[in-house]
Amino acid sequence: MRYGRGPEILRDLSFDLPRGSFQFLTGPSGAGKTSLLRLIYLAAKPSRGLISYFGRDAATLPRNELPDLRRRVGVVFQEFRLLGHMNVFDNVALPLRVAGRKRQDYAEDVAELLAWVGLGEKMNALPATLSGGEQQRVAIARAVVGQPEVLIADEPTGNVDPEMGMRLLRLFAELNKLGTTIIIATHDLQLVRMLDAPVMTLSNGHLHIRPPRSERLRMREEAEAEAEAERVSAAPAVAAPRTPDPDDPSNPDTDMTGGHDD
Ligand SMILES: Nc1ncnc2c1ncn2[C@@H]1O[C@H](COP(=O)(O)OP(=O)(O)OP(=O)(O)O)[C@@H](O)[C@H]1O
Ligand SMILES: [Mg+2]
Repeated sequence: MRYGRGPEILRDLSFDLPRGSFQFLTGPSGAGKTSLLRLIYLAAKPSRGLISYFGRDAATLPRNELPDLRRRVGVVFQEFRLLGHMNVFDNVALPLRVAGRKRQDYAEDVAELLAWVGLGEKMNALPATLSGGEQQRVAIARAVVGQPEVLIADEPTGNVDPEMGMRLLRLFAELNKLGTTIIIATHDLQLVRMLDAPVMTLSNGHLHIRPPRSERLRMREEAEAEAEAERVSAAPAVAAPRTPDPDDPSNPDTDMTGGHDD
């Protein structure tokens, strides 16, 4: 992928996000995490290569089908993108309203979710009156409220303290348990260590995928067991106890006198 005539910032990437999976995306600032996420939610087009979206070639998707497909994906933007003229409650409820749900049916759920992310007291506030971390939590609540099939979150804990970061990660993990496929871009390695999930790392335009800790342990154990088996099979066979050789002079049973009994 490249922007305009600029250099290629992502190249030769090949991966898939299996349904129901959870993965982190890391890499230094400017490595292309946001760009890769934009490719994934079809806000940007690759200069070459193929993207398949819910099993279909993104390049040939009819434009009129895009809104429906996008509704199946929740996105937490790095810069939040809240609607400034709507209060916190309405920002979060927006995906539900767009999906045709009635306010009385979702009001309680939205209030509960807002309380969970620590914004129970701020439901009527406008985004401009909130701190960065509070705005970030509104953006997260909006992305998860409709229990999307896929959640794409760009640095979702970049503006909150570690304790709130963990709480938000728990929220994502819960959503994942309910079946949502999740990809989270983050610099926060402490967060990454909290979950046993694969880590995709971008560097110099390339993507490296590290399997989850449990799988790496299993692979190491398998490799060790294999090496051990190889060592055993390569070792010389253990010598069987020898039957005494009557002609061997070191054999105490050998009678050196010629065997004459007196
Ligand atoms: N709209 C744009 N036009 C031109 N170049 C861009 C644009 N957006 C990003 N870039 C460039 O693409 C590269 C990757 O940017 P990107 O925002 O994807 O990085 P990132 O890994 O998300 O960084 P960060 O951790 O700081 O959010 C950078 O070199 C950036 O300057
Ligand atoms: Mg970014």
